[in-house]
Amino acid sequence: MSDWEPELYNRFRRYRYEPVEAILARLPISADERIADLGCGSGENTIELARRAVAGRVTGIDSSPAMIDAANKARAELPPALGDRVAFMVGDISRLEAAAQYSIIFSNAALQWIPHHRDVLSAWFRALAPGGRMVVQMPANDRETAKVELGNLAREEPWRSMLSGVDQSFREVPPPEKYASILHEIGFIEVDCYYHTFHHPMLSPSEVVEWYRATGLRPFINALPERHRAPFLDAYRGRLERAYGTTAKMTFGFKRLFIWGRRPAA
Ligand SMILES: C[S@@+](CC[C@H](N)C(=O)[O-])C[C@H]1O[C@@H](n2cnc3c(N)ncnc32)[C@H](O)[C@@H]1O
Repeated sequence: MSDWEPELYNRFRRYRYEPVEAILARLPISADERIADLGCGSGENTIELARRAVAGRVTGIDSSPAMIDAANKARAELPPALGDRVAFMVGDISRLEAAAQYSIIFSNAALQWIPHHRDVLSAWFRALAPGGRMVVQMPANDRETAKVELGNLAREEPWRSMLSGVDQSFREVPPPEKYASILHEIGFIEVDCYYHTFHHPMLSPSEVVEWYRATGLRPFINALPERHRAPFLDAYRGRLERAYGTTAKMTFGFKRLFIWGRRPAA
């Protein structure tokens, strides 16, 4: 698959930051935390976490070289007192091998790209120091118009034959109750899992296409031959205009799942 495009992803930075603000509002951060930001992207959240853990260390891990490159460029601009406490590395967060290393594991909008969540969350549990906390946020927007229409379009010809290799099965995020029981089984305490829907004003359905072009559309676009990509996006845009019933301003509802847990102290 072609690499992520940090600039495109960050076009809606203000909206994409709202769930992070919600997390930071309820996550006490002490001076000396050891924090992992898993699937850190271009590193803005990683750096914000380091700002808040005033004498702590934060490691951002991401599998995308383009994202880590952008993160390292941002880090190079920081005053040394902050930049020296931040590290970025290319790595696969589904195979985290750290043991009892972090006091906080933070993962925003990344786990949905990975299958086998029970195994992954077990590894993240082991990576936490005793008493350490984990907070994960994932989009859970599978029933929203744009996601439903994307699935409908992909099932129609001529796209269906070209997109048959796109595996969407593991991207359907299970409900909070399911994660709560997985976390309890793994051994987490203070488990709290819930949905929160954010409401984003958009100038038109075209902006929703732009939103997804940076994320959920990537596997579809990547699977299409170059000459079919623009027509696919046009077809998707037209479909969204009909489904939302407008070509003008609209509100894009975005449901997200939040998962909290703590590794017991002893
Ligand atoms: C939607 S972005 C979120 C980035 C950042 N956490 C944020 O909130 O802006 C998802 C990120 O997850 C990363 N990712 C997906 N699968 C991964 C994996 N197996 N290991 C590491 N990173 C992964 C992608 O490279 C991408 O940067």
